[in-house]
Amino acid sequence: MNILVINGPNLNLLGIREPDLYGRQDYAALVSLVEETCRQAGMDVEVFQSNHEGAIVDKIQEALGKFDGIVINPAAYTHTSVAILDALKAVALPAVEVHISDVSQREDFRQISYAGMACVKTYMGLGLEGYRQALLYLKEYLQTH
Ligand code: DQA
Repeated sequence: MNILVINGPNLNLLGIREPDLYGRQDYAALVSLVEETCRQAGMDVEVFQSNHEGAIVDKIQEALGKFDGIVINPAAYTHTSVAILDALKAVALPAVEVHISDVSQREDFRQISYAGMACVKTYMGLGLEGYRQALLYLKEYLQTH
């Protein structure tokens, strides 16, 4: 089972960026958590981060035929990007959405998730733990579908 984890803009600044919202662990800690979770669960993983919408669209397109499923935190593009939604729908790989913060309790402009419309499940407000849960859910989903 080969999983692609995609992180959108500003997530490379984890630990520095608004720590009260996103925590004090840095991006390297997130990558370690993802890799360790996948190692323990017997899954292969690639972790990708970009601040550029088109690069994320390209990565989703390239996932076709290479990966079995996607875990994605599109960050701010969650609330704006029909292009990322369309890319997820185009490749039709099972995808799970993650948000570190609880976006449901934040500003109105964060209440829409375009990418989420193409995802089988969303985890939010669990901090980095949300990625672990998303990966384990995706494993279970891929085994049963
Ligand atoms: C986020 C929530 C988004 O609204 C925000 O733009 C982010 C991070 C999260 O993980 O909580 O950059 O996706």
